[in-house]
Amino acid sequence: MAARAALPPGSWLGCLGGGQLGRMFVHAAQAMGYKVLVLDPDAKGPAAQAADDIVVAAYDDAAAIAAFGKRVAAVTTEFENVPAATLETLAATIPTRPSASAVRIAQDRRKEKRFFATNDLPIGAFAVIESASDFSALDPSLFPAILKTAALGYDGKGQSRVAHPVAARDAFLQFGETPCVLEQLIDFDLEISVLVARGSEGDIRVWPVQENEHVGGILDLTIVPARIDEALRERAQSLAMKLVAALDYVGVLCVEMFVAGDELLLNEIAPRPHNSGHYTIEACVTSQFEQQVRVLADLPLGDTSLVQPAVMVNVLGDVWFDAPTPMQPAWAEVLAIPGAHLHLYGKAEARRARKMGHVTCTADTLEATLNRASRVKQLLRIE
Ligand SMILES: Nc1ncnc2c1ncn2[C@@H]1O[C@H](COP(=O)(O)OP(=O)(O)O)[C@@H](O)[C@H]1O
Ligand SMILES: [Mg+2]
Repeated sequence: MAARAALPPGSWLGCLGGGQLGRMFVHAAQAMGYKVLVLDPDAKGPAAQAADDIVVAAYDDAAAIAAFGKRVAAVTTEFENVPAATLETLAATIPTRPSASAVRIAQDRRKEKRFFATNDLPIGAFAVIESASDFSALDPSLFPAILKTAALGYDGKGQSRVAHPVAARDAFLQFGETPCVLEQLIDFDLEISVLVARGSEGDIRVWPVQENEHVGGILDLTIVPARIDEALRERAQSLAMKLVAALDYVGVLCVEMFVAGDELLLNEIAPRPHNSGHYTIEACVTSQFEQQVRVLADLPLGDTSLVQPAVMVNVLGDVWFDAPTPMQPAWAEVLAIPGAHLHLYGKAEARRARKMGHVTCTADTLEATLNRASRVKQLLRIE
């Protein structure tokens, strides 16, 4: 079969979702001469501010989706809770990357875990909880555990740490008896994630492995390259490549994993660029967002090599409240640090725990990069 013809620059690309990931996708697409139409219920969101045009509508507004689909040559998503049915409708007329079937799996932790298990991808012990009676049959060795709602969780939301079945049942009732998974708490040494891209011809590119530190369930720091040995790095990358092929995925995807001793366990996947991949903008030959454009436009996939070590510091709304002068974070001081790159997402209002931006630090050595990042955290009074 002949390769599909690439969409030429000047073409309109569609983006479902208007958050920061969409904004950085828009920046990458425009840099390459494409135009982006964003669909988002919020007319003033981070991506809408940057887009060439916007459609302000709900993600399940059939008429708006149809009109949106007519104006673009291909469509991508920037958050995983776009209804899969919307992607399915669009896929009838234009390339939709990722596909509805992949997104459907990533949207539901029950499907996600079954997919991992079916494809021999390593995961921790878990149980599916769909009714309060499911607690009576639980294996006690699952505890301590984390109860997670099957759908709509992010940044640690929709999760509760539970020490025993009674606590788990209480948490389930608190979540309104919505379907959940109960996961054994993994005593991990560190968390890593692997970004991977797959084109429509099945070509795969994997980025270096990232090491992630979370605070309160939210990503705080991403360190690249991850401080793991070569063999583990290769295993993590192989798992990500195996996964993306098994899913027949087309687009950019991120796999979150736990490292426990010499064991690697998959946590979850995100069917889109990822917060832990923002460092690729400055530190890799091809960023995750440029790659998303390349996949969408059927261009050759770009080189994912790391050019220099990077440490990304997430900037939450807390930074505004905790500033020496409230609401005035020390941006100028941060930018006086060599190799510090500021990204702010244009969100109108800072709120605690809200992702407002990030700072990526680069330097020649990882040690120097880590020093720059800790200086950034100090200046922004993070922690
Ligand atoms: N089974 C687990 N064992 C230990 N820690 C976990 C487990 N599941 C989640 N966590 C911690 O909570 C964080 C957020 O959980 P995650 O499942 O990735 O949800 P989301 O990122 O969608 O909020 C993880 O990055 C990890 O730090
Ligand atoms: Mg996660």
